[in-house]
Amino acid sequence: MIYQRLLRPMLFALSSGDPETAHEWALRLLAWFDATPERRRFLARVAGALDLPKTPRCLFGLTFPTPVGLAAGFDKNAVAPRVFEALGFGFVEIGTVTPRPQPGNPRPRIVRLPPQALINRMGFPSEGADAVAVRLRANSGGLGIPLGVNIGKNKETSLIGAAADYRTAMQKLYERADYFVINVSSPNTPGLRSLQGKEELDWLLGEVAEENLVLAMDFGREPRPVLVKLSPDLSSHAMAEAVEVCVKHGIAGIIAANTTLARDGFSKTEEAGGGSGTPLRPRAAWAVSVLRRYAPSEMAIIGVGGIMCADDARAMREAGADLVQLYTGLIYRGPFLAVAVARGLVERPALAAGLQAAALPPAEKSPPTP
Ligand SMILES: Cc1cc2nc3c(=O)[nH]c(=O)nc-3n(C[C@H](O)[C@H](O)[C@H](O)COP(=O)(O)O)c2cc1C
Repeated sequence: MIYQRLLRPMLFALSSGDPETAHEWALRLLAWFDATPERRRFLARVAGALDLPKTPRCLFGLTFPTPVGLAAGFDKNAVAPRVFEALGFGFVEIGTVTPRPQPGNPRPRIVRLPPQALINRMGFPSEGADAVAVRLRANSGGLGIPLGVNIGKNKETSLIGAAADYRTAMQKLYERADYFVINVSSPNTPGLRSLQGKEELDWLLGEVAEENLVLAMDFGREPRPVLVKLSPDLSSHAMAEAVEVCVKHGIAGIIAANTTLARDGFSKTEEAGGGSGTPLRPRAAWAVSVLRRYAPSEMAIIGVGGIMCADDARAMREAGADLVQLYTGLIYRGPFLAVAVARGLVERPALAAGLQAAALPPAEKSPPTP
């Protein structure tokens, strides 16, 4: 409440010219809390994470203490991975990390669409895999939750060179990643989403699987679980094909979904980029339900898109998600959202009957409009 009544209006007003400024301040503060165990413990106490009922779930060989994770893009360069555990998250996904550093698109590149949406055209600003690997070595010690590393290709890399980029990023970040996410669904890197096509994905995931085996041998460990992050703008046919290819290459799970290029439900805007937040929710839940229908039960589905409260997370789970992730909700609802959602899921795991019909996506061929 303090966040929504006091802190958010201040942050939004001070960064009205460029919302990314507020994000940078927030990350700086989070990095300060991240720096010592005492500060993290203090934050965990304030957030209510210390007495959060744990509901451990084992998926693709990893234990998730709560089903609520941090979505990629919030902490792209791993400046504060441990602080998210203190904030009650059950897993944290850093990135998207590109193999070489790149600046991303010109600012401003995040637009707020109140009450609960964003458009972003970040274009993978990244300090690069070498710098992120160094930082992870320094500041992921003591992290008690799974750490996902979301990787992508550099903007100037051609699509033919894309597999080499993903392989390079895996090599540099293998040591600390508990799982990798192959991001082929950001709408802000030209051509990237074409890697979701059946043949392209087959080629890319074949290369990734090969690299995973080589690195596992080098490091003397089991291959890392690899997940694929998909766009909510794919047809159900394209999703079925993607699942088929993922099964062929032993993919551990699918994350649905990245931001959307559709504008249904978003307030009228000419802004370019991918939309997230509440208007994305029905589309993301639809994607989860389609993927759940085609994916084998052992393939995990992570639902992300417009989760603002425990009921949204429940609906995502009932659409078929094993775990959920948050991003835009943190901007509008504040840093204690993960605790609220995780606690809400424990207290009432299923949706009330009356809410079910409204919240669950219909099993149709195209995404529903909100
Ligand atoms: C500003 C911003 C940056 C993002 N950057 C990334 C990214 O680098 N990699 C990625 O896979 N997803 C990225 N995403 C997408 C989120 O991880 C998530 O899939 C999407 O925003 C939907 O969830 P939400 O409605 O809870 O935000 C970004 C989203 C936002 C709003």
